[in-house]
Amino acid sequence: MKPLIVVKFGGSLTKNTKAQKEFLKELSKISQKQKIILVHGGGPEVSFLLEKFSIRSKFVNGLRFTDEKVLSVAEMALSGKINKNLVAGLLKNNVKAVGISAKDAKSVICKQVKNLGFVGDPIKVNKKLIEVLLKENFLPVIASIACDNKSNSLNVNADTLASVLAIAFKAQKLIFLTDVCGVLDRNKKTIKEIKVKNVNYLIKDRTITGGMIPKIQACANSIKKGVKEVWIIDGLKGVIEMKGTVVKK
Ligand SMILES: Nc1ncnc2c1ncn2[C@@H]1O[C@H](COP(=O)(O)OP(=O)(O)OP(=O)(O)O)[C@@H](O)[C@H]1O
Ligand SMILES: [Mg+2]
Repeated sequence: MKPLIVVKFGGSLTKNTKAQKEFLKELSKISQKQKIILVHGGGPEVSFLLEKFSIRSKFVNGLRFTDEKVLSVAEMALSGKINKNLVAGLLKNNVKAVGISAKDAKSVICKQVKNLGFVGDPIKVNKKLIEVLLKENFLPVIASIACDNKSNSLNVNADTLASVLAIAFKAQKLIFLTDVCGVLDRNKKTIKEIKVKNVNYLIKDRTITGGMIPKIQACANSIKKGVKEVWIIDGLKGVIEMKGTVVKK
């Protein structure tokens, strides 16, 4: 099989139609040489819909508190609109994309996280469905909705999801595309390289906050569990230029 990379497309980029179009074009080129699993988030779209429905939500350490109403809106936004938009964009580039969520075929099972409502933390990856898709040259596009042991939906952070998939599928590379040029220091300059052992310190001293917390933790987790190359890059520059932060052992 061709080498596999896992790419996570930040929800922070989905509102930028031009960036998304460029990214999907690049991805189609890369897919000729490599197997790809595409994972996506959808923070802004979820927030937009919640506002439309006048549903309040809050964040705890970069993770969204998810009650029943928030969960159904999140599933609508992630598995519906964003997932199918990405799939359509890839199909237009002649890539055989298939949109699923991590819940499908119980691909990722989570345990519910305490104090966050219907939020899950992955405990098991069932590889079968994604494996079948990859083997038949389909490109899986995976929304960050998973389930618990009893098949109830849970909202899972898309960075965490990308990380557990990269680990389970022994990906050669894991790339996070987001709306900033990698991890920035206090002067807003890109930190070119971060060692896993320094991650906790950067969170503790508040250099890294909000949505960058689960992202950098996902990077560290992936490296610790065998993924060789992990990047957080500027989604506007794309996967060919690769401008951002590399996370190393
Ligand atoms: N040190 C830092 N460097 C860069 N960004 C940071 C830092 N600390 C916090 N952030 C925030 O993290 C954000 C990126 O995470 P965010 O969760 O918003 O995006 P995403 O993961 O790409 O999207 P989604 O969660 O919807 O998939 C940045 O836009 C920035 O506001
Ligand atoms: Mg995020």
